[in-house]
Amino acid sequence: MDQIKIFTPASVANVSCGFDVLGFCLDTVGDIMKVSKTENPGVTIGAVTGQELPKDPLKNVASVAASSLLKAHSSNNGFRIDIEKRIKPGSGIGSSAASAAGAVFAINELLGRPYSRNGLVKFAMAGESLASGAAHADNLAPVLLGGFTLVRSNKTLDIIKLPSPKDLVATIIHPKIELKTIHSRAILKNEIPLKKAVEQWGNLGAFISALYTNDYGLLSRSMEDKIIEPIRAMLIPKFNDIKHAAIDAGALGSGISGSGPSVYSLSKGEAKAKKVGQAIRTYYDEIGLDYEVHYSRINNEGIKIL
Ligand code: HSE
Repeated sequence: MDQIKIFTPASVANVSCGFDVLGFCLDTVGDIMKVSKTENPGVTIGAVTGQELPKDPLKNVASVAASSLLKAHSSNNGFRIDIEKRIKPGSGIGSSAASAAGAVFAINELLGRPYSRNGLVKFAMAGESLASGAAHADNLAPVLLGGFTLVRSNKTLDIIKLPSPKDLVATIIHPKIELKTIHSRAILKNEIPLKKAVEQWGNLGAFISALYTNDYGLLSRSMEDKIIEPIRAMLIPKFNDIKHAAIDAGALGSGISGSGPSVYSLSKGEAKAKKVGQAIRTYYDEIGLDYEVHYSRINNEGIKIL
């Protein structure tokens, strides 16, 4: 095989109760990447459509991730990466993770699959670190493994794939403003009061239990963020109105997607998810802020070969 075309999906990190450790994979939003073997060694960025991305291989997250893989597993060939970028950088649904994970996945296939999907996370981290200034795998893990994932350790990359209750549907509203992860991390506090930490790990444990038992009520009660969301909410126009409207419309829970500005909600069934979308879009219509709304079931497979 000399060439491969893939769909590399968007993802929602944190999921309210799991800052930097929890995430899930989307099915209806993602980039298309084509990776081809070249005669000259090294990684090059070929055609980029949809968004402006750096062509310099040292500055593009896809080529940085790819080079990290090729450092561990050398090849006589080089690789050219063409990207149809459909996930806007700085939108909060894992744009850099889709690029980084997509690049290493595709090259791994062209190399004859020396690594498992789980084993590819460490190489993709090189690209993610370049984009966000901190190494965390909460978007990369669901993109590579599919479904919900828990990163027990961002250092050793001890990653667990979790079950996805089948009726869950995500509604994502993306206000068209750009928020760089590096900036929305810079405003966070380094220390948290013990009382809040206790609430947060109670919620995270319960959320994971709810995924295993299909307990939608427990899932709903666990979708709370007492630590990060209160600080980042100010970065997102109408965040509190949107969150409350989503829950009033029947969402199980709602919160900031990754580092924002997108806001995600999870609902039981498509009809509820659509109702949530209708309820929340009015806030941006009112203030004339451009936005898009995505609906998606949980993508249990992750990256797909086209
Ligand atoms: N966990 C990360 C954050 C996700 O919230 O900063 C965004 O990359």
